[in-house]
Amino acid sequence: MSGITIALSKGRIFEETLPLLAAAGITPTDDPEKSRKLIIGTNRPEVRLVIVRASDTPTYVQYGAADMGIAGRDVLIEHGGAGLYQPLDLNIARCRLCVAVPEGFDYAAASRPGSRIRVATKYVKSAREHFAAKGVHVDLIKLYGSMELAPLVGLSDAIVDLVSTGNTLRANHLEAVEDIMDISSRLVVNQAALKVKRELLQPVIDAFAGAVKP
Ligand code: ATP
Ligand code: PRP
Repeated sequence: MSGITIALSKGRIFEETLPLLAAAGITPTDDPEKSRKLIIGTNRPEVRLVIVRASDTPTYVQYGAADMGIAGRDVLIEHGGAGLYQPLDLNIARCRLCVAVPEGFDYAAASRPGSRIRVATKYVKSAREHFAAKGVHVDLIKLYGSMELAPLVGLSDAIVDLVSTGNTLRANHLEAVEDIMDISSRLVVNQAALKVKRELLQPVIDAFAGAVKP
């Protein structure tokens, strides 16, 4: 394939990437929210987009099935980043990775060094590192979504999840009790593709860099 393939997930990453693509002179020919197509063309014949699950983006780029992609820091930490060059923080899809518990739960007592806590999360690597650094024994329960439900039905004491407005926590009578890290999305590029296709990829990287909002 002589052109370039960019991996994006539907929803907020696709929406927030559109202005960056525009800055690189790239306009998708379909809207992934309306079309069922997984390979989307653009106004530039040498550029195509592939629509993947957010947590799969690093995998497509790692194996060179896509030359570049956009993924959240949360997803990149869980993936590990092997084979990926990460030239830019795009400052999009911003949120925080937090520990949250039911309102009124005594988190200070439950998270003293040496204590044991049950935590449900999609972000097991980040959660494991966070509690290890605090000296807290953690029993991790891997979930794939709707983490907020877990403490409400006795599956866990706490969750580690993304928080933006806080609306989801409030609606479920949970509260954030600890920030683990700030999250935004990054441009990831296949390291081999960057060498072989630099003439095509570098102008896109440069255009994205020029369009990043502070
Ligand atoms: P998957 O489809 O793989 O399960 P997902 O449902 O988390 O992943 P999105 O909801 O599209 O996928 O989120 C994509 C990225 O956007 C996340 O990896 C994270 O970095 C960021 N993000 C998630 N939730 C929010 C939010 N509420 N506000 C801002 N950014 C968010
Ligand atoms: C994310 C995250 C929280 C929610 C937080 O879910 O997993 O549930 O956003 O945002 P808030 O603080 O603004 O309420 P998302 O909207 O991506 O839904 P999904 O991952 O379950 O599809």
